[in-house]
Amino acid sequence: MDHRTAMARDLDHGQPPDGAPDEQAAQQHAPGTEPAHHAVHISIDQVSVRYGAFTAVRDVCFDVPRNAITALIGPSGCGKSTLLRTINRMNDLVPGATTTGAVTYNGEDIYAEGVDPVEVRRRIGMVFQKPNPFPKSIYDNVAFGPRLNGRKRDLDDLVEHSLRRAALWDEVKDKLAQSGLSLSGGQQQRLCIARAIAVDPDVILMDEPCSALDPIATLRIEELMKDMASEYTIVIVTHNMQQAARVSDLTAFFTVDMDNERQERTGVLVEIDDTDTIFTNASDPRTEAYITGRFG
Ligand SMILES: Nc1ncnc2c1ncn2[C@@H]1O[C@H](COP(=O)(O)OP(=O)(O)OP(=O)(O)O)[C@@H](O)[C@H]1O
Ligand SMILES: [Mg+2]
Repeated sequence: MDHRTAMARDLDHGQPPDGAPDEQAAQQHAPGTEPAHHAVHISIDQVSVRYGAFTAVRDVCFDVPRNAITALIGPSGCGKSTLLRTINRMNDLVPGATTTGAVTYNGEDIYAEGVDPVEVRRRIGMVFQKPNPFPKSIYDNVAFGPRLNGRKRDLDDLVEHSLRRAALWDEVKDKLAQSGLSLSGGQQQRLCIARAIAVDPDVILMDEPCSALDPIATLRIEELMKDMASEYTIVIVTHNMQQAARVSDLTAFFTVDMDNERQERTGVLVEIDDTDTIFTNASDPRTEAYITGRFG
């Protein structure tokens, strides 16, 4: 099977390839009768990541539902960022990192031979902890990705659409030529979201997107995420328990497993469930201990 071609076909139609599990799941429900997020968008199967000889996360398995917000929580060093980066092959860019297991997106293994990681990252965008606009105008920040992809026509419309989608348009429409760096932190983060949206992804990964922002800007981004979930699948790493409880549909709790013999600390997934269940009735005592602040 030519995976590159299959992924290109998926891009053309914006649909999973024929027979993909999520398409079948979606077809089982009449429109409007079931939450859209019952369909699987990304499947993480036995994923482990090593940095050299050190295993940072081990044997992680879970499904990410389409058009929902999945939160990854857990103590520092348990591999949340590492795992997030496996979902769009960002770890490929980290020297010494090796990923094993399978990450399936729309029914296709994104690590299969012939899959172009650049295309994967276009479909599965990323927003980082620290807002990182390019030292360019607001307009050029948003137009950057589409231009790189060869788009020349209707750039104005695309820039406006992306900025509107990121709830930033009204604040910047009269100063599109100003530097992106002239904006406030919260505006810069929304600019980065607009920049991610501009290349038309359908999944957005966010690694602690609000940790550098004040409470008002944080709530603004949270509102935006909830609004975006109708159109995008979102996976967010957060240290903020209230944030996970406020915005996410599902929560995955990770912890660090200590191997005393090898003196190695490896991240493992403890459990994943509906956010309400994780916060009120978790299966594993370690989850409750972390959420209530008794550990981690
Ligand atoms: N580039 C790298 N090279 C070597 N080890 C790394 C690298 N990046 C992360 N690690 C190690 O992998 C483990 C998991 O790190 P990771 O950054 O994924 O954790 P995290 O859960 O995101 O932590 P935090 O909550 O502090 O952001 C840690 O032990 C870390 O030191
Ligand atoms: Mg991290």
